[in-house]
Amino acid sequence: MNDREYIEENRDHWDELAEHHPDTDYYDVEAFLGGESTLRRLERKELTVAGKRLLHLQCHFGLDTLSWVRDEGVAHATGVDFASTAIETARELRDRVGLSPDRARFVESDIYELPATLEESFEVVFSSYGTIYWLPDLNRWAKVIATHLEAGGIFYIADGHPFAGPFHYESTADELRVAHPFFNREAITESFDGSYAGWDFGLENKRSHGFAHPMGEIVTALTDAGLQIEFLHEYPWSFFQRFDAMEPDEDDRWWLPELEHALPFTFSLKAKLPA
Ligand SMILES: C[S@@+](CC[C@H](N)C(=O)[O-])C[C@H]1O[C@@H](n2cnc3c(N)ncnc32)[C@H](O)[C@@H]1O
Repeated sequence: MNDREYIEENRDHWDELAEHHPDTDYYDVEAFLGGESTLRRLERKELTVAGKRLLHLQCHFGLDTLSWVRDEGVAHATGVDFASTAIETARELRDRVGLSPDRARFVESDIYELPATLEESFEVVFSSYGTIYWLPDLNRWAKVIATHLEAGGIFYIADGHPFAGPFHYESTADELRVAHPFFNREAITESFDGSYAGWDFGLENKRSHGFAHPMGEIVTALTDAGLQIEFLHEYPWSFFQRFDAMEPDEDDRWWLPELEHALPFTFSLKAKLPA
């Protein structure tokens, strides 16, 4: 299969997931509509966005995009995702929380096609939690980010640490089992009836393709596209239950109990496009 075919099959998979996700406890849409931000403490602390124009890549059905605007004072956010069902739900939620399209707009596009769809550039480009795994080519991804950043603009990502990617979901503190490649040699093709938000949706489009991206590849793709790294932080918790044996704390950060020496499960990176 080529990259286009991987993306098309992933789009069918995500289109269907996006029908189910708004009804899950994982996404808790009621709490969001009741005023709770879906953003984590991490990105709220590390990224200054008030009054800025923000582009949110792979926004899913828009909860974080809308939280930036409603709760963090972003002047305007454009959310982008290739799943049409996700974009439709995002627009409905935008209307339900009373934000105008001037404040929050949602665009249906494959990330790689974005420069052909959207001409604007932004002060901030944001991406978080479960994004680059779905992208076959980070060099093209980084060029899209640079294209849509204003000179002096900031790119920020928080996502799963590449170190954690290879381990089987049944891994424990005593036995970390390697199930996938660390290096991006080929697609990781899997078939699931659901997702991290629920394992039994009864999906028709079960198959999806992910891609391992080592930290060196992430950083080099961004610097090759002209960005300057401002920080790269590594954290010993996961943003989802990566392994069955993980347990959450009060901040919804997932830990492997009894792990004697901390391991990195999440990273955040901030980079600037020089003026
Ligand atoms: C795990 S979700 C996004 C994470 C977000 N933090 C959330 O939980 O709502 C991954 C998103 O990436 C989108 N996606 C995957 N590949 C894409 C592509 N090539 N172009 C645009 N969106 C893509 C999917 O549709 C999905 O909405």
